[in-house]
Amino acid sequence: MVNIETWDISISAKNVDFYYGTFQALTNVTMDFEKNRVTALIGPSGCGKSTLLRMFNRMNDLIDGARMDGEVLFEGINIYDPKVDPVDVRRRIGMVFQKPNPFPKSIYNNIIYGPRLNGIRNKSDLENLVEKSLKRVSLWNEVKDILGRSAMTLSGGQQQRLCIARALAMKPDVLLMDEPTSALDPISTAKIEELIEELKKNYTIIIVTHNMQQAARVSDYTAFFYLGRLIEYNRTDRLFTTPDVKQTEDYITGRFG
Ligand SMILES: Nc1ncnc2c1ncn2[C@@H]1O[C@H](COP(=O)(O)OP(=O)(O)OP(=O)(O)O)[C@@H](O)[C@H]1O
Ligand SMILES: [Mg+2]
Repeated sequence: MVNIETWDISISAKNVDFYYGTFQALTNVTMDFEKNRVTALIGPSGCGKSTLLRMFNRMNDLIDGARMDGEVLFEGINIYDPKVDPVDVRRRIGMVFQKPNPFPKSIYNNIIYGPRLNGIRNKSDLENLVEKSLKRVSLWNEVKDILGRSAMTLSGGQQQRLCIARALAMKPDVLLMDEPTSALDPISTAKIEELIEELKKNYTIIIVTHNMQQAARVSDYTAFFYLGRLIEYNRTDRLFTTPDVKQTEDYITGRFG
């Protein structure tokens, strides 16, 4: 298991249980996420990876009949405290989904939508933000002359980089990524993986992936889940070479899942 003694901790889940109606999707999940590192969540379909990821920016609040026990701390503050505004949580903890989901607006307006709602009105500030965010995801050169064009006309890989740029424009601390490359071709996937490597200097990244090579390539730590429970949480190199738990070994060697 991981040794967190020297960690600067970003997010902590403490004894988290999660239910959809009477179905329990997560059971007693306790784990910490180290700041400015990449942590991968792996495990078979339905084991609760997306549910856990959504807990970290209160996206599950929007689901009828769902409820949780336990706590999620972000920089020591319980994000489920009634005094905490979920909108603030989602600004600091951004999310990127499996299927690129740009707004049906121009490339430019996709980036400035959130920042403008947050009160940034100055035109040159917004222009700078657009340029900086698109450069951060290496999309600027491809789109700088077509910023007014609909984001829907971009390729899937470009759309996903735009969605990451849109999340970064909100200046988050944490980026949650739910299978961000599963709809992309190998070249776009490689670009996103390089980007993750680059972004982790400044952001805490939690990524769900079904691709174990990807988890091994991009993450510092990996957590293996099965049937809603955290089975093993380890350094990525260790988890994929000499896992501590037999179930992990069975999963990574393809014996089940
Ligand atoms: N909105 C919902 N209502 C009811 N049950 C749900 C809902 N969302 C997820 N579940 C159930 O909760 C369990 C965990 O789902 P979750 O989406 O977190 O799994 P996952 O590990 O992300 O799977 P996958 O790898 O297929 O994306 C599954 O059994 C799923 O059917
Ligand atoms: Mg999922």
